[in-house]
Amino acid sequence: MADTITAGASMSRPAGPPGVTWMAPAKVNLYLHVVGRRDDGYHLLDSLIAFAALGDLVTVLPAREIRLGVEGQFAEAVPTGSDNLVLRAARALAQHAGITDGAAIILEKQMPTAAGLGGGSADAAAALRALVRLWDVEIGEDALAELGLSLGADVPICLAGHPAFVGGIGEAITPVPNLPPTWLVLVNPGVAVSTPAVFRAREGDFSAPARFDGTAADAPALAALLAQRHNDLTEPAMSQAPVIGDVLAALTGTPDCLLARMSGSGATCFGLFANEAAARTAARRVALDNPSWWVVSAALATPA
Ligand code: C5P
Repeated sequence: MADTITAGASMSRPAGPPGVTWMAPAKVNLYLHVVGRRDDGYHLLDSLIAFAALGDLVTVLPAREIRLGVEGQFAEAVPTGSDNLVLRAARALAQHAGITDGAAIILEKQMPTAAGLGGGSADAAAALRALVRLWDVEIGEDALAELGLSLGADVPICLAGHPAFVGGIGEAITPVPNLPPTWLVLVNPGVAVSTPAVFRAREGDFSAPARFDGTAADAPALAALLAQRHNDLTEPAMSQAPVIGDVLAALTGTPDCLLARMSGSGATCFGLFANEAAARTAARRVALDNPSWWVVSAALATPA
């Protein structure tokens, strides 16, 4: 039995081989403005990123070599070759820290892949955190974030794991002190969307950054602030996966939905709700009407 560590809280168990489990929560872009493009093709973003209180689980156990096993609802969609982001993260950390030990990594894939929820990045970040514990690596937060950024633009914010305004290509993180209690319904229509293809399909002028000061008092106030902002990747993603329009319409049509929006480069969309009962009711409605879609309700995670 592995030690269980969820969202920073650890629980030691005396029996069994020493292991570490770390949660990889789904990342949600509450808004996402594309504000420019670098010479290397990467886009400059201004985004408010938060996390859902659900996600994949990464467990690491001592082993001679670094190896990966994938379980869970979406396991089949995860490529397990050497370019898997979790394996790359493990190798990069081992190389950085001069570690010669291995690790058996078990990824329990509960989130859809290529879905705009930062799944691969969140898994890589969770693997890094868990392996730092398992291997007892001394590495500062800045060095860990830099290593994470070399793996993917979303890895630094997934390492941070708290709500933040995110700039640059994903590395400039400004924590947001408080988001009000808010519930999410996440809906994925089962269509994988390629992030590079969505960025390539984006047309038109860049947006202005749109950060706001202070805190929203409650979920309706947060939704009102977000309604003045948008996700600039929605149109290009819909050109690849028109069903995203149906997902947004389904969420918007549920009673008490405060705001419906796509996350990241899609295709997952989220609805915001003021309380758990409203979110659960909406999730049931959307799931009943669209039995092939992945639909879950969850709280917006608040920092510990
Ligand atoms: O960094 P990551 O591998 O997650 O990004 C996947 C692709 O998405 C990049 O190769 C790039 O085409 C695009 N991207 C971008 N600007 C960002 C993040 C990603 O253009 N800020």
